[in-house]
Amino acid sequence: MRSAEGSNVEKAQTGKINAAKEAAKLVEDGMVIGIGTGTTVEYFIKELGERIQRDGIEVWGVPSSYHSHMLAVENGIVVADLFQFEELDLCVDGADQVDVNLNCIKGKGGALLREKIIAQASERVVIIVDSGKVSDKLRDLVPVEVFPFAYGNVVRRLQSLGGKCKLREARSKIGPCISDNGNLIFDVDFGVILNPVELEMKINSIAGVVENGIFPGEIIDRVIVGHSDGTGIMKK
Ligand code: A5P
Repeated sequence: MRSAEGSNVEKAQTGKINAAKEAAKLVEDGMVIGIGTGTTVEYFIKELGERIQRDGIEVWGVPSSYHSHMLAVENGIVVADLFQFEELDLCVDGADQVDVNLNCIKGKGGALLREKIIAQASERVVIIVDSGKVSDKLRDLVPVEVFPFAYGNVVRRLQSLGGKCKLREARSKIGPCISDNGNLIFDVDFGVILNPVELEMKINSIAGVVENGIFPGEIIDRVIVGHSDGTGIMKK
């Protein structure tokens, strides 16, 4: 007998696949694509690889992590970077939580810095999520990437903004998780976030914070929400 939890996991997975397939339809021949990171983006990368094979389109991908870079290569996507292209046509990425104004929290996979860079470099940003990620207000932990030298200063200042900091631990090594960029990551609990745009700026004004996982809705063009039986679109 399948448990309710098991069937929710399956529903979320189908939602991710449906959202990823819908996003892959937005890719056109000749585009340069910012490629996010995460389990939902993994489906997008596979789908994009299939489109390249099936439809013969030529695209370039700028990946936001080593993980997505390796997957892109495996799936026949030509990998590029921001030396080659100053502006990307489309960025497709996942999120941990999305509110009704398209503000997102990202970074559970630790790739928030490069993810925000490719989002800002892109003409259009499309977020793909399963429906369980949509919330009236942001309330998830906010990942904050921190230059190690600044540790104590950043903890103290995040606390003065009302955050409870937890250093992210590595899973297969003793000690902290080190990002692809050689930095630490804090997961910070701010409770319900009433003003994500203001909080994003305040966190980033702390010396030693490299980037944080709040992505303001103003940089997002649309969110494709995957359900078990199709997709919906959230737009401004
Ligand atoms: C990676 O750092 C994150 O921003 C991911 O995009 C986000 O955590 C969503 O990941 P999943 O698609 O795995 O839920």
